[in-house]
Amino acid sequence: MKRKVLTALLSVAMVATMLVGCGGNDSAQTPGETPAPAESEAPAEDAAPAEGGEDAEAAAPAAGGEGGLIGVAMPTKDLQRWNQDGSNMEAQLKEAGYEVDLQYASNDIQTQVSQIENMISNGCKLLVVASIDGDSLGTVLAQAKEAGVPVIAYDRLIMNSDAVSYYATFDNYMVGTVQGEYIRDALDLENAEGPFNIELITGDPGDNNARFFFGGAMDVLQPYIDSGKLVVKSGQTSFEECATANWATEAAQSRFDAIIASNYSDGTNLDAVLASNDSTALGVANSLAANYTGEYPVLTGQDCDIASVKNMIAGKQSMSVFKDTRDLATQVVKMVDAIMKGGEAPVNDTESYDNGTGVIPSYLCEPVFADVNNYKELLIDSGYYTEADLQ
Ligand code: BGC
Repeated sequence: MKRKVLTALLSVAMVATMLVGCGGNDSAQTPGETPAPAESEAPAEDAAPAEGGEDAEAAAPAAGGEGGLIGVAMPTKDLQRWNQDGSNMEAQLKEAGYEVDLQYASNDIQTQVSQIENMISNGCKLLVVASIDGDSLGTVLAQAKEAGVPVIAYDRLIMNSDAVSYYATFDNYMVGTVQGEYIRDALDLENAEGPFNIELITGDPGDNNARFFFGGAMDVLQPYIDSGKLVVKSGQTSFEECATANWATEAAQSRFDAIIASNYSDGTNLDAVLASNDSTALGVANSLAANYTGEYPVLTGQDCDIASVKNMIAGKQSMSVFKDTRDLATQVVKMVDAIMKGGEAPVNDTESYDNGTGVIPSYLCEPVFADVNNYKELLIDSGYYTEADLQ
């Protein structure tokens, strides 16, 4: 019951915060309208643009495409959010007068490298890249730099490459602190006696964001682990132990199957699970449904994927950090436009993200959390989803 009062209070604060966000959505598309991710990549988006190099410019641009060709490289269609990111970017760039070469790489690093090579040789004037593995694009981005093609790292920082001009993302550390604080407040860790059992799960080690998410959450939770108020029965607390290759739901689920079998199959309660995003939270929820009979734990997530929002409504996930992909797209389009017009892109952080070659000027959007108390305002009233999407 205490949890409900707290979450209600937090929700009020949250709705106030959502008004801050990052940039407007005037040109936003409704992600709920995005078709469900296809199992394999859609051929239309995989196809290289018809014209390449100089011809791309000479060819009559699609309506409003006179701003030039922009390459947008996304990691995979398997996760809902990247479909939304891709279609929002495409729509907003077209509206701003650019042509768009949008590619998805099936979470395969070599495919992403080839797609970026093609973008450069096809005459893209600027690249927006959400990397699969932040450390694997150095060589191809050196080619971009050589060809004078600026690069914006989208959502995930690209490491060890001096070809990256800017970075646009949500405040990844804050995503983690919001999750940690949600658990702290839901369990009332400041006042309750405890101890409470918690388990931890985070993302792909090749994704620079994962360490920010985990680090932010652990900065909130670690003091309670140190004092014994939170107990991690599995003993798995390091980033490496809690990582999930490719953020895969199946990997998250099988790790949790093992954790539950060893620690919580005798009626011991699991009070909370820190999951860094929705694909891992889904694996945890699946595992709990199959193996766990105790009281349902507080379970965090991120992205407000439809499956997780449905779980939230059904009481199987407590919260999900909401990162409005329309706002990130809006911000990146502003960056693209500024660079293409020869100016400096708008940034609001010049300290946090060093990619190994120096600090990359960044624009950080503010994440907020959604839960069962506020999801209607955040997700439906804002046009992000329709009621029907969540049924
Ligand atoms: C993104 C998250 C996403 C995760 C898995 C991260 O880089 O910031 O929003 O859940 O990748 O795709």
